[in-house]
Amino acid sequence: MERIQEAIAKARATRDATPAPAARVAPTAMEPSLDSTQVGVTAAWGALSPLVIPQKLATKGRIVTISGGKEATAFDAMRTKVIQQMRANNWRRLAITSPAAGCGKTTISLNLAFSLARQPDLRSILVELDLRRPSIAQTLQFKPKAGFSQVLEGRSTFADCAVGFGNNLAIAANTGPVRNAAEMLQSSATPVCLAEIEATYAPDIMIFDMPPMLVTDDAMAFAGQVDCVLLVAAAESTTIKEVDTCEREIASQTNVMGVILNKCRYMGQEYGYGYYG
Ligand SMILES: Nc1ncnc2c1ncn2[C@@H]1O[C@H](COP(=O)(O)OP(=O)(O)OP(=O)(O)O)[C@@H](O)[C@H]1O
Ligand SMILES: [Mg+2]
Repeated sequence: MERIQEAIAKARATRDATPAPAARVAPTAMEPSLDSTQVGVTAAWGALSPLVIPQKLATKGRIVTISGGKEATAFDAMRTKVIQQMRANNWRRLAITSPAAGCGKTTISLNLAFSLARQPDLRSILVELDLRRPSIAQTLQFKPKAGFSQVLEGRSTFADCAVGFGNNLAIAANTGPVRNAAEMLQSSATPVCLAEIEATYAPDIMIFDMPPMLVTDDAMAFAGQVDCVLLVAAAESTTIKEVDTCEREIASQTNVMGVILNKCRYMGQEYGYGYYG
């Protein structure tokens, strides 16, 4: 793993010689708001359909962060770094992507989201933006009234799509694949839709579970809408060249928060990922 880490650091040092473009400017600092809109926000969260996840399902889906404990430690550490970086930079929107398919983006997005849900002072929203191969509703075994693609198209509301886990995590998934994902993600309606969700639910963090970058241009079509991106690499399948190519592409649009090395078999009892911020 050290060799991979060194190579990533070297590739990044070369790339960092070029200054990154200015990323999206997030509206306000990540502080809980206490004005009268708080009542509306609380009501909006309270109206979401509640999600219950049986332990068996969590285990099957490799979700280890729902109740905390030893298994969740690695993800809780990642959560801390994510919160610290997002607060320090006044970032609110985080995309999670990878070079190729199957690196563990959705598993990591879900674990990060459930880890954040145990942070009572933060409201988080996980949005499934892998519109071509959605998997979250199936993994968590719930049937949303509407998919998030329908919310993006203005054919349904976030309230009909999202489910609430506790009172501070909302998950917006999809009901099936769509064909025109890239067009949808770069439509002018998309930033308006996201701003409306933020105005209604006042999330501190929105996580976007994206498709892989080297398979479709969906992730890059959406990159301008987020403040930062975490890149998931799979040990033994992702190459340094792929990581470098993707980091460069992301850095041309927004901030690279870090690279997560997932599926590290030789990490012993830990979950099997390393994080390089
Ligand atoms: N650390 C890990 N160790 C072992 N298996 C893992 C790990 N992380 C994820 N997996 C498994 O790898 C498979 C792919 O994971 P996941 O669906 O999260 O990847 P993905 O990057 O979202 O894939 P896709 O590109 O298809 O959306 C799943 O079966 C998941 O359970
Ligand atoms: Mg996925």
